[in-house]
Amino acid sequence: MNETLKKIGITTEERYECIYTTIDEEGNKNSAAIGLKYFGSDNIGCRIFEGSKTLENIQKTKKYVINITQDPLIFTKSTIDKLSDEYFTDDSDIAILKDAGSYIIVDVVDINEQKPENTPIDNDQSIFMIKGKISKIVINDESIKAFNRGLSGIIECLVNFSRYKIVDDEKRTEYMDRVIENNRMIQRIGNEKTKESMELIKKEYEKN
Ligand SMILES: Cc1cc2nc3c(=O)[nH]c(=O)nc-3n(C[C@H](O)[C@H](O)[C@H](O)COP(=O)(O)O)c2cc1C
Repeated sequence: MNETLKKIGITTEERYECIYTTIDEEGNKNSAAIGLKYFGSDNIGCRIFEGSKTLENIQKTKKYVINITQDPLIFTKSTIDKLSDEYFTDDSDIAILKDAGSYIIVDVVDINEQKPENTPIDNDQSIFMIKGKISKIVINDESIKAFNRGLSGIIECLVNFSRYKIVDDEKRTEYMDRVIENNRMIQRIGNEKTKESMELIKKEYEKN
């Protein structure tokens, strides 16, 4: 199982952004961008805020599908609303994206309600920790890897850093705030290299 997930870039070290597809009791399909944490063997987990349709479907059906994609439109349409029917396979009992590079079918084993910690969300909305077991992995295109946000954060900080000396004070404050936020994010979801990169960037910013 471990080796199969490695082929699509999934290790226990990082967290990934994926498209979760679920189905309700009437057979309506839903899609949403949700993070993924792999714990090794066939153990997988995610955290979902209360109020989402994905959470409601998972609580009722105890099943979900993690689609691996790097398609910006799929992420955007899923987040703004949900994908329309033509994005899904014809299966009537399960929601799977037609064009996913790969997909992972997960059976839920435990759902645990918690109050959020270490997130920028500023209210007491519950978050549900969902533990699952992988029941099937289908790889259609090995070249499409699970997306980790660490590199995007590093690139943003580096582009800002390269302009740091030629921008005004207001922009510098904005760049510093982005370093703080990207650092917070990378400590949560990044790998060792992105964490080390962030340390180097922070040191450079402190010199200036
Ligand atoms: C890249 C990305 C990752 C996200 N990760 C999560 C997550 O891990 N947990 C969560 O509750 N919401 C997450 N969200 C927000 C949900 O996608 C968003 O609330 C969505 O509208 C929920 O849709 P639903 O009501 O159809 O389930 C994420 C959004 C994006 C863009």
